[in-house]
Amino acid sequence: MRLENKVALITGSGSGIGEATAKTFAREGAAVVVVDLDEKGGSRVVSEIRGRSGTAEFYRADVGNPREVEAMIGFATSHFGRLDILHNNAVFTTAGHVGDLTLEGWQKTLDVGLTAYWYATKCAIGAMLPRKYGAIVNTASVSGLAGDYGLGAYNAIKAGVVNLTRVTGIEYARKGIRCNAVCPGPIGTPPLLRMEKARPEIVGRVREAIPMGRLGEPQEIANVVLFLASDEASFVTGAYVVADGGLWAHTGMPSLSGTGPEW
Ligand SMILES: NC(=O)c1ccc[n+]([C@@H]2O[C@H](COP(=O)([O-])OP(=O)(O)OC[C@H]3O[C@@H](n4cnc5c(N)ncnc54)[C@H](O)[C@@H]3O)[C@@H](O)[C@H]2O)c1
Repeated sequence: MRLENKVALITGSGSGIGEATAKTFAREGAAVVVVDLDEKGGSRVVSEIRGRSGTAEFYRADVGNPREVEAMIGFATSHFGRLDILHNNAVFTTAGHVGDLTLEGWQKTLDVGLTAYWYATKCAIGAMLPRKYGAIVNTASVSGLAGDYGLGAYNAIKAGVVNLTRVTGIEYARKGIRCNAVCPGPIGTPPLLRMEKARPEIVGRVREAIPMGRLGEPQEIANVVLFLASDEASFVTGAYVVADGGLWAHTGMPSLSGTGPEW
């Protein structure tokens, strides 16, 4: 097992990518703290992990509230005695062109998707430094590497997460703490699946834009997070790994063969 005797905390793990990560970590031997706003989703994930003889606890927290971030890290260290792995993953986002975003939507997007990542990292570093051991993995996005029409606030937080990852990586590189990010492309988690039901033509266009011609699976991102969190990535820090079916490798130019990606 790749995470035997490790203690891991994953935010936003009551659904989607975080859920897949929590289950993967538990399968690999880690004791897992499932953190989510959504009590139902988080408790379901914990009982599914326990059903497969894994070790997991649910902790309800709104990571947009710094006091609750402190408390969730405190819960992991008091309940399991330490914290080895932090996966910052929860998100809130507001949509709209830059000129139409509201201050309230922008602020909440930053609170949950960027400030919370920094503050949880700060609290985790406090817990990890005495043992000179820790791995932090942040869920960024290909949307942190370029812009998407109508997702300006999301683009801003994810770009911030990429650079927060770099600086955390270099500042703690000699102190035993690594920090890396995963940049998923479009993944078939509940938000996108809901959109597919409501507006199938939009998600159809998304699939078409991905060289592999399909959405990613949450497990395909959890596999990357597992690698970055494990000692197999012992010389990897301040890095991001893109997992997007080839989306980010494309300039955006239409096919010059004139017959599309299948040609
Ligand atoms: N699905 C995609 O296409 C995609 C692509 C790139 C990046 N991502 C990133 O992956 C991460 C997970 O997204 P997902 O697609 O799995 O979404 P999801 O909605 O399935 O899961 C997100 C979870 O976060 C929880 N959450 C939201 N706000 C919270 C808060 N304030 N405090 C605690 N928990 C909170 C939700 O309750 C939910 O359970 C996000 O950072 C997202 O930006 C997703």
